[in-house]
Amino acid sequence: MTFLKTMGFSIVAMFLFAAFSNILPQVQSDAPVEEEIPTDGFDMAGMIAYGERLFTGKGTCTLCHNDLGRAPDLLVMNLSTAFNDRLADPRNEGVSAGGEGASDVEAYLRESLVDPSAYVVEGFGKKGSNDTISPMPAVDAPPIELNEVELNAVIAFLQDGAGWDPTVPLPSAEEAVIEEEPEEVESAEPETDPLVVLDNVYCAGCHDLEGSEADVGPNLDDIGTRMTQGEIIEAILYPNAIIADGYEADYMPEDFGEQMHTVELMVLVDYLINLSN
Ligand code: HEC
Ligand code: HEC
Repeated sequence: MTFLKTMGFSIVAMFLFAAFSNILPQVQSDAPVEEEIPTDGFDMAGMIAYGERLFTGKGTCTLCHNDLGRAPDLLVMNLSTAFNDRLADPRNEGVSAGGEGASDVEAYLRESLVDPSAYVVEGFGKKGSNDTISPMPAVDAPPIELNEVELNAVIAFLQDGAGWDPTVPLPSAEEAVIEEEPEEVESAEPETDPLVVLDNVYCAGCHDLEGSEADVGPNLDDIGTRMTQGEIIEAILYPNAIIADGYEADYMPEDFGEQMHTVELMVLVDYLINLSN
């Protein structure tokens, strides 16, 4: 009986999702490939371009830095005004406090990436922390885990966006082997390993999954005891329909339905439900 019930749920949910996922493009990416960049070809322009790809790709920065309003919209705002203001802000007790110019901005950005709570942009701190604790995870630690070259590339991208010549060092010959995000390809083959799906859609950046300890959203370990399969699917496809108690709306991206194949959504939901068993 329970089995039949679950089957029934799955099928209804599959149809619901398939009904509109079919009109959306099925975007899927292949596993990252190592790509060797010759050092003489990896100049500052290459570094900036690499930083931009990391910002929207592996760095998962756009999960939060977007127009939902929960983090500064770094791709849209005037970066030079903003970064100058941060350096001059009396609340800033970080390494860049009181400094000015490109290299102090580099220091500010590096600290923002590896120690986000050192200085929290006003109004963006964790609920109840009075802007002393940042919701942003340190991006040099798991799960995002950018390495030194990647951090430098992202900083170069943001310095360039603010109109400064980047001051970061260029990678040495050995460091120039970088992990390239693959181009997104239209694919008919959905991923059936839930851990690979998780890696692609990056739930662990905000939820404590696979030991990420992220706490922007609720812990999902016991989600199977709190929500039905249908409710979990709804929470993923329409995050703002119901807001979990104690958490904020407009954080969780609303486009996971476009990023996942129906089959991927289902294996992911099954995986989450089974976490509590
Ligand atoms: C889980 C959400 C989240 C993710 C992922 C995230 N950030 Fe942030 N970030 C924030 C929030 C919220 C703030 C504002 C609070 C603060 O100052 O820490 C912030 C602040 C910043 C700032 C300071 C902005 C300013 O206006 O001075 C920089 C720079 C930054 N993030 C860069 C990045 C980069 C680069 C990545 C990806 C490698 C990233 N962030 C990933 C949420 C996030
Ligand atoms: C940028 C941060 C972010 C990302 C990425 C993210 N979430 Fe969320 N999620 C949240 C926040 C914040 C909430 C609480 C507010 C709400 O209910 O919308 C939430 C709520 C949820 C809930 C409801 C939990 C409850 O207790 O009511 C589920 C289920 C969920 N997320 C699953 C996922 C899955 C699966 C992924 C990956 C496909 C994901 N989330 C990616 C931030 C995020």
